[in-house]
Amino acid sequence: MKMEGQDWFYSKKVKEHFLKPKNILKNEKEIKKFNGYGKVGNMKCGDIMEMWIKVENEKIIDCKWKTFGCASAIASTSMLSVMLTEKKGIKLTDALKITGNDIMKRLGGLPQIKIHCSVLGDQALREAIKNYEKNNSTIPKIDKKIKLNKPKLETKLKK
Ligand code: FES
Repeated sequence: MKMEGQDWFYSKKVKEHFLKPKNILKNEKEIKKFNGYGKVGNMKCGDIMEMWIKVENEKIIDCKWKTFGCASAIASTSMLSVMLTEKKGIKLTDALKITGNDIMKRLGGLPQIKIHCSVLGDQALREAIKNYEKNNSTIPKIDKKIKLNKPKLETKLKK
């Protein structure tokens, strides 16, 4: 398989979020303050993502994450965490509408073969929301609406 230089283009935003990721979990002691937790693995590469969310009045007001993933997973999840927290939080229902494509748009794109990495944080977020709902049985469930976003598989790779 021959890869063209263009296939590996990383935008300025991707580099920025990879080099200085936002909302990364730095201290395990912080975990206590969160009330939703999600952990997912990427079938394609075996990488893992964990996410913690703090929900108040049906809004995500804080989130942290950590990963054993690649640069694209780090940049994507960093951007997702900004999207979740940038306007003093986001309603759970709106958070569930965020897709890998939305994250990629904000990042200025990702190399085609790294698209699957952009949904790792997104999937961990969905798991964290499910976990929050499970632990808060008094709230109305939106669980059924939660589906894992599947990455659009790469189109044919150039030979
Ligand atoms: Fe595994 Fe990117 S290669 S998340």
